[in-house]
Amino acid sequence: MKIAVLTGGGDCPGLNAVIRAVVRRGEQHGLEVMGVREGWRGLLDPPLHFRLTREATSGILHLGGTILGTSRTNPFKKPPGGAEMVIKNLKTLNVGAVIAIGGEDTLGVATRLSSMGINIVGVPKTIDNDLSGTDLTFGFDTAVGIATEAIDRLHSTAEAHKRVIVCEVMGRHAGWIATHSGMAGGADVILIPERPIDIEAVCAHITHRHRTQNKNFSIVVVAEGAKLGISESTVAQKLDEFGHVRLGGIGQQIADLIEKKTGYETRVTVLGHIQRGGTPTAFDRVLATRFGVHAADMVAKGEFGKMAALRGTQIVSVPLAEATAHLKTVDDAFFSVAEVFFG
Ligand code: F6P
Repeated sequence: MKIAVLTGGGDCPGLNAVIRAVVRRGEQHGLEVMGVREGWRGLLDPPLHFRLTREATSGILHLGGTILGTSRTNPFKKPPGGAEMVIKNLKTLNVGAVIAIGGEDTLGVATRLSSMGINIVGVPKTIDNDLSGTDLTFGFDTAVGIATEAIDRLHSTAEAHKRVIVCEVMGRHAGWIATHSGMAGGADVILIPERPIDIEAVCAHITHRHRTQNKNFSIVVVAEGAKLGISESTVAQKLDEFGHVRLGGIGQQIADLIEKKTGYETRVTVLGHIQRGGTPTAFDRVLATRFGVHAADMVAKGEFGKMAALRGTQIVSVPLAEATAHLKTVDDAFFSVAEVFFG
């Protein structure tokens, strides 16, 4: 059987490890693997694809980015008949199944195409770790490691200058990166999209720490999707094809308010795409490889309409519809552990 593999949405450390694993395991199953360029864009007209072989995927395990390229193209927003065009092209190319590696948006499209009769297997990708159905997505561990190292570095400069430093990390709808890196890095306050920001409480934590703990610096970690409630934390209202606004700016807003209300000099560092670039951690390489092997096995077994997922220590198959029905956000029990160390 000929299968197509694509990577959609924001890039993520570990994408190449999945592609390599699909090809290597696919070869053992006698599958011919076609790489689709630029996510769902590569299945519209004209289709963009090339043959993926063992040679073509050799030496990519440790590389960031994706050899296939990616995009946020949504075929259901490409009138007239973007989804039908994808289905027609898959037929013309004689593709029997698609392995879609993506997050909520890419796998949301996969779920809809699956209900239209396309044989699809999903692989959960996002540094945000906000996909349901799986305990973890690959890329998350790398992003947390990068953010934690940054927080460690911010600590020493904050202390040297007696400053408050606000570190803005990624996390559109969920504060997993902020909570994990904040806990690992010993942040004094962590702000996440799941909880509206109470700026008075933030300033009280910082002031209490400075006055009673004999500290003259503090670190605040804020997820880019966290909301103050008084204004939108966006730099532009431009929407992508999945209706997402481009985020950014909450760190600066928080820093301005902290400085104004506490009188402590406050600076901002926005980590941005640094969290997504570069080489994946060993953990993400292994997780991505296990997902890729499992995805090829799912195709061989005809297990379609499902996503490879991590449950405990096992890789299992879960319905795509379950994985994309709602986002996995930070739960109160987990966040309350981080809160023990605020202030
Ligand atoms: O979905 C992953 C993510 O990294 C989010 O955390 C972030 O909001 C978004 O992608 C940024 O997307 P872009 O690279 O298109 O700016």
